[in-house]
Amino acid sequence: MNLIILLFCSTLLWANIPTKHEQFQRSLDIVISNSTRPDVMKGMIVASPSKSSPNYYYDWVRDTALTMRSLIDYYEKTKDSNIKQMIFNWVQAEIYRQNIPTLTGLGEPKFNVDGSGFSGPWGRPQNDGPALRALSLIKFSRILLTEGDQDYVIKFLYHGVLPADSVIKKDLEYVAHHWKDQSFDLWEEEKGLHFYTLIAQHVALQEGSLLAKELGDLGASHFYDHESKLIGRFIKLNFNDSSIGIKASIDRSAVLGYKNSLIDIAPLLALLHTSPYQRLYKLNDEFILKYIDTLKREFLYVFPINKVKSVPGIGLGRYPEDRYDGYETSGEGNPWFLSTIALAEYYCLMEKEKKKKTSHELKNLSQMIEAQFDRVIFHSDKQGHLSEQFNKSNGFMQGAPDLTWSHNSFMTAYMRCDFLN
Ligand code: NOJ
Ligand code: NOJ
Repeated sequence: MNLIILLFCSTLLWANIPTKHEQFQRSLDIVISNSTRPDVMKGMIVASPSKSSPNYYYDWVRDTALTMRSLIDYYEKTKDSNIKQMIFNWVQAEIYRQNIPTLTGLGEPKFNVDGSGFSGPWGRPQNDGPALRALSLIKFSRILLTEGDQDYVIKFLYHGVLPADSVIKKDLEYVAHHWKDQSFDLWEEEKGLHFYTLIAQHVALQEGSLLAKELGDLGASHFYDHESKLIGRFIKLNFNDSSIGIKASIDRSAVLGYKNSLIDIAPLLALLHTSPYQRLYKLNDEFILKYIDTLKREFLYVFPINKVKSVPGIGLGRYPEDRYDGYETSGEGNPWFLSTIALAEYYCLMEKEKKKKTSHELKNLSQMIEAQFDRVIFHSDKQGHLSEQFNKSNGFMQGAPDLTWSHNSFMTAYMRCDFLN
């Protein structure tokens, strides 16, 4: 009898697992909800609605730039006017916070929800922020230009004067003059020079140069292009690694002390977050292929949940030595949703890039893509909620609930895989 009930319940459970499409819709709703909280400055986004253990009730420049990038891509596909209004609100919030005094100026990583700079101790500056913000805004400018709204672009987004008085140009000037400086990595833990940050800076300047040219700011266009190329050369010289493929950081000064392998999901995120503009590395570059293999092998090894045969795909985390369990750094690292779905997105981009694939290769890719999506949904609560992490042994979610970045990563992967019609 019990067995029958059990069978019945598990059938029900399976029947209720959301489809990818349903998860996409839930993620979109949750992103919108985290971006329009009544007690938060208009246009700003909380990293998670959680106000304690952990307190993620702040706006991080990086998380927000990436979230807006998915909404901008979504707007491009759907022309949804409510989403467009959200993007306009965000632009105004960025203009506001670029112009208030903060501890490190444009490198400041996180803000209070009333729009003021967070002034407690933190890993600062984090110089990926301005580059990511510029990239999202450049994308939005291009859309507005094709819609014929050059006035808005020049008034708020890119205006070719110095000192800069528009949001993109301020960011590009900052990036062009500070890329050689050490800053904290995207995990906010180590100070140094990072593949992730440099790729974002390289691509932001490359695309910024094109926009500047289009808008007649020729001297700046030349300067941004020049700096972008210098960064590109610097990356290729310093980050390729014959044993792990790509290393995450060099020249580290503030270090955790236990992050030794330099294997990190961050380089993969760098390629995805700058797609389709990034051209320094092909996705099938020999170093990238080696690096992706290294990532898979390492995370397979460190997370017991990956050895359970009945669950498809593979859960990936930030880096193998991670000790941040979503609450504190004295714990053990886990797989993260945003890292796990990143691998699906990578395979989707691979699928598009190599036209001359055998049908066998294509079938393999599409199976691996499905497996990563299934893996994410499997560890969700099956109601569309995604926290930051899922436990490496029992698979249950932990860390910040409804992390905005988990949801917008799902959205971006879904759209880049061409699943949204
Ligand atoms: C919060 C940071 O964002 C996270 O990356 C870090 O691991 C923990 N604090 C511990 O420092
Ligand atoms: C911790 C992550 O390490 C960092 O990258 C992120 O910006 C913050 N949490 C907020 O989500």
